[in-house]
Amino acid sequence: MFSDIWYKNAIIYSLSVGSFLDSNGDGVGDFHGLEERLDYLQGLGVTTLWLMPFQRSPRRDHGYDIVDHYSIDRCYGTLGDFVAFTHAARTRGLRIIIDLVINHTSDRHPWFQSARSSPDSPHRDWYLWSKEKPANADEGMVFPGVQETTWTWDDKAEAYYFHRFYKFQPDLNTANPAVQEEILKIMGFWIQLGVSGFRMDAVPFIIMREGANVTGQELQFDMLRNFRAFAQWRRGDLALLAEANVPPEESTEFFGRDGDRMHMMFNFPVNQRLFYAFATGDARPVAEMLDATRDVVPDTAQWGIFLRNHDELDLGRLSEEQRDRVFAAFAPDPSMRLYGRGIRRRLAPMLGGDRRRLELAYSLLFTLPGTPVLYYGDEIGMGDDLSLPERDGCRTPMQWSADPQGGFTTADKPVHPVIRDGDFGFHAINVAKQRRDPQSLLNWMERIMRMRKECPEIGLGTNRLLDTGDPALLALRYDWRDNALVVVHNFAGEEKSLILEPGEKDCTDQLVNILSDNHSHPDEAGRHHLTLEPYGYRWFRLGRGDHLRE
Ligand code: NOJ
Repeated sequence: MFSDIWYKNAIIYSLSVGSFLDSNGDGVGDFHGLEERLDYLQGLGVTTLWLMPFQRSPRRDHGYDIVDHYSIDRCYGTLGDFVAFTHAARTRGLRIIIDLVINHTSDRHPWFQSARSSPDSPHRDWYLWSKEKPANADEGMVFPGVQETTWTWDDKAEAYYFHRFYKFQPDLNTANPAVQEEILKIMGFWIQLGVSGFRMDAVPFIIMREGANVTGQELQFDMLRNFRAFAQWRRGDLALLAEANVPPEESTEFFGRDGDRMHMMFNFPVNQRLFYAFATGDARPVAEMLDATRDVVPDTAQWGIFLRNHDELDLGRLSEEQRDRVFAAFAPDPSMRLYGRGIRRRLAPMLGGDRRRLELAYSLLFTLPGTPVLYYGDEIGMGDDLSLPERDGCRTPMQWSADPQGGFTTADKPVHPVIRDGDFGFHAINVAKQRRDPQSLLNWMERIMRMRKECPEIGLGTNRLLDTGDPALLALRYDWRDNALVVVHNFAGEEKSLILEPGEKDCTDQLVNILSDNHSHPDEAGRHHLTLEPYGYRWFRLGRGDHLRE
């Protein structure tokens, strides 16, 4: 049954517990609040929730600086609340994926505190130390401009320690077998508490051999196979979703040639080209990346397709010229840019709140090859708060209603401020208002998710590009068993006509529009003459009616 490989056709929704719903009025979202909103999420149509880190943490990096991997931060609730929540999710058929942050810990983690206290500490070799400052200490920072170095002196340890990210996030020495064993224990713990998978943070750095005297970029891929083997022994249908922003040709090694490493990876190459296409109307680089990322995926593996997430929109792999064009369109003010490579905005404000462009973007999210991953609040077109530092601007609380604080909390001062004013403030953009409006983005999202679920060809089938003869048009055909689906998108702000040959020559099949009555009949040569409105999109079933045949 195709549903056995559940992650191939899941709809993933990522959220931070602290920003979702506060149930006890302390100004921070919590597991009780999230549990209260499970009916909303189920009704929306998502099938899987990805929770960003909620373990105990000083939260200097949105929780990606953990001090106890086996805990729930007190402000979110208790382990008991977590188990009650996963149970409530399961009763609604929702799966839970959590972040697995094991490239580094917080510098306040007891392991690091022990490691720095003495060279004889049992945890000394859990981190990476150097008596001298390594020659390459000022290279390889993930947050350039904010982070100054990757090796920082520690007075207590009397040595430098390595940190790929901020200096309060010392890297674990993942090559150490004791550390690897601990990582498995952490996975085992959360699996036992009911999670269906992990979003593995910073995967290329986890497997990179690092240290003061290490040269080159040797990657320890076997580690990924071990993680997977362990996870699947514990839970057969567990899925690992890797955050690895690597070029297409390197992805195969992360998936494993035999499909024995990561089940899923985010498709960063397609993501970056999509934004280039939104900015310029030129979809050719997207098409190139769809070709480049197609055959690198083993049969049982899958891409995660996404538009925005809790980080900056990373454009680091575009050419400088391409990046400049995206900056000019979506981040004209330098304060909107980050780390020299990214944009710290949400999608809706980038697209000027233009409903046509938003529908185009989300129609692509739900029809490009892979599993869609949606960022909380994007279903209502939430905006950002650029007065907040770095990436916090697009992590503001969920806007539920026009009540004070957008219905997120009864506290006067939420820990993270709610967006209050302007076109994207909670009076203008909130769930309650959109739920009542049949034409709202929220109701459109619900419907498009329903259609995505009726199109398993996208997650399970083969796909190929169809010739459109126009750089602004992208057409894809999916085939699975006896079914075929054709999707067409117009990236231009003007009407476009095209002649499409979706099948073999002389094919008499009609294109059944599954979103409207606007079907298309072929001419004698099997060609379809289509006209798409500015930023228009079409989802067609080829041949028989609009239902899938099993
Ligand atoms: C990637 C996460 O998405 C990001 O938010 C975080 O800052 C780094 N990894 C470090 O954990």
